[in-house]
Parts: sequence; C-alpha cells; structure tokens
Amino acid sequence: MPRARITINPQYQVGPIHRRIFGSFIEHLGRAVYDGIFEPGHPTADADGFRQDVIDLVRELGVSTIRYPGGNFVSGFRWEDSVGPIEDRPVRLDLAWHSTETNRVGLHEFSSWLEKVDSELMLAVNLGTRGVQEALDLLEYTNLNGQSTLADQRAANGRTKPYGVRMWCLGNEMDGPWQLGQLSAGDYGKIAARTAKAMRQLDPTIELVACGSSGANMPTFGDWERTVLAHAYDDVDYISCHAYYEEKDGDLGSFLASSVNMDGFISAVVATADSVRAEKRSEKQVNISFDEWNVWYISRYRDEDKIRGIDNWPVAPRLLEDKYSVADAVVVGSLMITLLRHADRVTSASLAQLVNVIAPVMTEPGGPAWRQTTFFPFAITSRLARGIVLETRVQADSYETDEYGSVPVVDSVVTYDEETGEVSVFLVNRAQAQTTVEVEASTLGLTHIEESLSLWDADVYAKNTLADPERVAPRENDSAMLAAGVLSVTLPPVSWTAIALR
Ligand code: AHR
Repeated sequence: MPRARITINPQYQVGPIHRRIFGSFIEHLGRAVYDGIFEPGHPTADADGFRQDVIDLVRELGVSTIRYPGGNFVSGFRWEDSVGPIEDRPVRLDLAWHSTETNRVGLHEFSSWLEKVDSELMLAVNLGTRGVQEALDLLEYTNLNGQSTLADQRAANGRTKPYGVRMWCLGNEMDGPWQLGQLSAGDYGKIAARTAKAMRQLDPTIELVACGSSGANMPTFGDWERTVLAHAYDDVDYISCHAYYEEKDGDLGSFLASSVNMDGFISAVVATADSVRAEKRSEKQVNISFDEWNVWYISRYRDEDKIRGIDNWPVAPRLLEDKYSVADAVVVGSLMITLLRHADRVTSASLAQLVNVIAPVMTEPGGPAWRQTTFFPFAITSRLARGIVLETRVQADSYETDEYGSVPVVDSVVTYDEETGEVSVFLVNRAQAQTTVEVEASTLGLTHIEESLSLWDADVYAKNTLADPERVAPRENDSAMLAAGVLSVTLPPVSWTAIALR
C-alpha cells in the first residue's frame, strides 16, 4: 500500500489565508445568468426573479468574491447598456460566445443578487473594444460617493449608496487570439498602466489586476508577464493566472497530477513578477489573482459547443455545461490545495465558473438545482481552511505519469486557526489504490478529530446529473485516528479528504 508522512509545526508558516482565494466567476455566457441564477418563472424565484434554490447552494459553497461580467464577454461589453430602465436596454450581439445579450440582468440586478449570496463583487473593465474613459465612467458610476452626472444616474437607477467595488480586472486574456481586441504584450502593458493610473486618480482605494497569460501553454507565456509588468508594475496589485485542466486520451494518472502543472505555473509567475520588482528596485510586491481555474473539457468544446452562422445568435444557449466526475472533483480538490500552499502569493482566486457553465452548481429550467461533484471540495475547503497555511514536510511514495514524470501519490496542505486552535488537513490520493497517511502534529496539542470526510467512489467517473443528482457525495472516513499527536488515515483510491482537528 502506498504511504505518505507529513510533518507540521505551527512555527513554520506559509502565510495567512486571504478569503478572496475562495472566489468564483459569473460570466454572461450560456445559461450562467439567464436560466441559471435568474429565472423569473421558476417556482423558487424571489421577487427579483432570482432562484432561491441557487442562492442557497451558492451560499453553501462559501464563495467570497465573484468576478463579473466576463471573461471573453467583457471585451465587447458596453456597461451602460446594462443599467437604467429594463425596457430601454439595448439587445446586443455577444461576439465572444455568438449569443444574444438582452441586458435584462445588469449591474444593479447582479449586485442585488450578490447581497443575497453574501459575496463581494469583482468587476472587469473592457480593454478589448474600449479604453480608459469607459473604465473611468464605470468606476465613477459604481464608486463615487458624491455628486456627478454618473453618480446621479446611479441614484436615479435605484442605488444611492455607492457600490464601493474594490477589485478590478484590467480586461480579460488580452493575449488570446480569440479575444476581441487582442493586444501585444507591449500594447497591453501600456494601456493597462494608463487605465490603472487614471482609475486610481479617481479612487485610490481600488485593487487592480493586470492580465497575465491566458495559460502557461501560450507561446508568449513568461515574456508576456515580464513585458506587461515592465510597463504596469507600479500601477497594479495583481497579475492574473488562468488554467484549465482535463483528462486527455484516458490518461487518468497524468490528469490526477494536474496540480503539479499549476504549482509550477504559480512559481514561474511569482519569479517573473519578482524579477521585474528587482529591476525596478520596487518596495511593492505584486501578487497573483488566479482568477480562472477549473477542470474544463475544452478540447470537446472546440468541436461540439461552437455556435456559428450570421443568423444564429441564441439567447442563453446551453454552452460549456461540463458534467463532472469524481476524478474531476479530486483534481479540483488538489488545485485548491495548491492555491492554499501558495497563500503567501496567491491572494485572490476565482473558480471558473459558478452556475451551469463549467460549474459546481447546475440548474434545469422550471426544475431542480443540484451540486456537481466539484461542489464538495470547494465548499468544504472554504468552510474549514481558516487562519494560516502551515509549511509541511512531506515524504510520500510516487508514481510515474506520462506528462509530469514521477509525482507524489499524495497532495496535501494543512491550515491552522490560531484563534480557535482548529487544524484542517486536506489530502488527495492520486493513487488508484488505498494510501495510508500519517500527519505528525505533536507540537499542536490536538486532542480530537471533529470531522473526517472523503470524496471517492468505486466508479471514478460517477457523476451527479439531473436524473441522479445525489449519486456522489462526501462520506465520513472513519479510518482517521489521533494518537499521541499523530493523525493516521487511510485514503480511498483516487480520493479527496478533509479532516478537521482541535
Ligand atoms: O471561463 C470560460 C472562458 O475561459 C472565459 O470567458 C475566458 O476568459 C477563458 O478563456
């Protein structure tokens, strides 16, 4: 049986956990908004047309921040279309997803939904087809606590108090050939710096995210980050990372090791940001906003999911509705572990996305809403990971993968809440056999196990679906034992586990 031994000590810390690491993302894409969060005729719809069953699930998921309104969508978005009397709002073509945007749900409606789900708004500005002035106008509209035509317009549209949006993305994936208004690194770096300076002149309290590469596999990766930050380092707080993973050609072993790729990606971007900092002799540290991450069967999307035709612009089509398996959830769990292990530099992150579109929450029009398998590791990690991330010493058996060579069978992170004394251990077993784990934690004075949950199934491809929405759920792992400060547990094959101790 494979084995792993983990040693922790509260003296050795990675850093505090920023709640924004448990963020997510809603784009005007497919059925994320319409027939997702918003469905006025639904039996659970509230007075504003939002589905209460979805609100309840999003609250249970424990999402801190929600990035909005895109994604690729934002690069053609005119924000002023989405405010004011609903009957006057224009109907627009969304070129990113070849759909029709009715603007029925806009900034005010979405913000009121955020209050219901108790999440913070993270807005993206359009730097694809627009620029500094439109970004300033949106910021003035949302954040000005005073009088101006735009602030008055906001009040006339029903919101006197400013929205006070703190987190702002300067465009989206501007390196991507698919992006409306794609830019070179130099051109993007300049417009990002100019937009950031102008926005800060209006509201110095905002936090700004520059676009990093759309993925570590982009040909310009590395050079893009270096060039963008050479222009914008002093003006931004974060550089973004985006990464999606999928099982390719039935290679489950490599897929389960996806977090090895994410780990290297984060280290490379941190190194690049720090080298620009050194060249600039800057006091400031730029951190990472990992504002798109998930499992996404993107190669299938390329073939099957594309809408085409000059006369074919559907409203809220079914797009990117991946159905997630147990193996997918295990990978999502290990990606969260990786984000946490980099808590000193990854201080904001967004699971992409939230409802119906590559999402942990699915809905059926007029029907139920349910949790995908990926819901569970996110919800439980968001609930249990509190305080600080501890450094871990890990000795683990390894296995061979085609993509990443030799990889440890166990992925892990440990968090410690100094106030409550609670320790949470998150573990992934990548092996297709049971693995035993020991966590040497005698310096923490732990006396009991409060909770021990594992997500696994004899069928690693089992899923929750409309027909069988509760097929997969976490189960109690009663093998967990605590003796003389050492936690021991047996992990089922291909599984994700969370153990809370006091
Ligand atoms: O999340 C789906 C899409 O993936 C986003 O719109 C885009 O930013 C990324 O390519």
